Amino acid sequence: MTELIINRPDDWHAHLRDGNALVQTCKDMARYFQRVIVMPNLAPPITTVAMAAEYRERILFAMSGLPRQFEPLMILYLTDQTDAAEIRRAAEADFVHGFKLYPAGATTNSEAGVTGTESLYPILAAMEEAGLPLLIHGEVTDADIDIFDREKAFIDRHLAPMTTHFPALRMVLEHITTRDAVQFIRSAPSTMAATITAHHLLFNRNHMLVGGIRPHYYCLPILKRDIHQKALIDAACSGSPRFFLGTDSAPHTTINKENSCGCAGVYTGHAAIEFYAEVFEQHSALNKLEGFSSHFGADFYQLPRNTDCITLRKESWQVDDQLPLGSATLTPLCSGERVQWRVLDENS
Ligand code: NCD
Ligand code: ZN
Repeated sequence: MTELIINRPDDWHAHLRDGNALVQTCKDMARYFQRVIVMPNLAPPITTVAMAAEYRERILFAMSGLPRQFEPLMILYLTDQTDAAEIRRAAEADFVHGFKLYPAGATTNSEAGVTGTESLYPILAAMEEAGLPLLIHGEVTDADIDIFDREKAFIDRHLAPMTTHFPALRMVLEHITTRDAVQFIRSAPSTMAATITAHHLLFNRNHMLVGGIRPHYYCLPILKRDIHQKALIDAACSGSPRFFLGTDSAPHTTINKENSCGCAGVYTGHAAIEFYAEVFEQHSALNKLEGFSSHFGADFYQLPRNTDCITLRKESWQVDDQLPLGSATLTPLCSGERVQWRVLDENS
C-alpha cells in the first residue's frame, strides 16, 4: 500500500510546554491533529480552571499565524489540595476534559503531584459524580521498587483498588509500557482505557542501552524489554477500542538530555502519525491505524469523531537533526534518520 486515507487523528496526550517553546510544539501538533490533550505539568502546574483558561489562550495565540490549528483540550493537575469546588468548576468549563494524576516525584514536574491514592478517594468520588475522566501516570515512586517494575506495582497497589471503588469513573492509564498493563486493561471494566506512544511501540530497552547510553530514548515510564514491546504492539494493532493514540511527545532541550543527569522525555510531535504508520505497517495492521488514531480516543472521551481525512503516502523523508525549542534546540526522535511515511500537506 502506498497511500492511506484515514479520518483526521487526535493526540490524547502531549506536552506543549509554554512561552517560546509553544512555537515549535504547536506548529508540529497543528499539522494534522484535530484535538490535542494538553498535559498540565508546567512549573508551576496548571491546577485550576482559571490557570487552564490562560494557558489555553497562550496556546491559541501561538497558533494564530499557522495555516491550521488544533483544538487544545485542557487537563488539570491533581494535587493533595485539589478540592471538590475545583472539580465542579472543571466539569462546567467546556474546555477542560479531565484531571491528571501524577504520583509525586514520578516524572518531569511532578513534585506537586499526589502523595497517595486512598486519601484522594473523596475527590475521585466527586470526579466520578461530575463525569470527568482521570488520566493517570501509573508508576509508584517507592525507592525500593525497581524502575522497570514501577508500572506493574502501581496497577496492583493503586489502580486495581481504584477500579473497584469507582466503577463509573472513566480512567486512562497513560503511556502504558508493559504486558501487565495490557492484560490489566483488557480485563478491566470498559470505563478503563490506555494510551500507547509511538516510541514504546518502536523501541525496547536494548535500543536505549546496547552499544552506549542513548539519552534521547530515555522517557518515563522507561522503555521495557521486548516481550513488553510486543504486547503493546499486539494491543495497538488489535483493533480493541480500549487502546488509543497518545504520543506523550515531551520536548526537552538537547543540553538537558545529553547530560550526566538527563531529563525524561522523547519528542515525537514532528512525525507522530508517521511513526505509528510505520509500526502498523511492519505488523500488517495498517487497516487498524484509523481506529487507534482517530476513533477510539474520541469515543472514550465522549466527543464526536472527526469526519474529515488526512492522506498518508509511503514516501521517505529525513528528520531534521535539531528543531528549535524556544531559544535552544531539541533533538527529535530519529534525528537525522529517514521516516517512511509522509502526511500530505493540505495547505500547499
Ligand atoms: C514527560 C515530560 O517531559 O513532561 N516525560 C516523559 O518522560 N514522558 C512527563 C511524563 O509524561 O511522564
Ligand atoms: Zn506525558
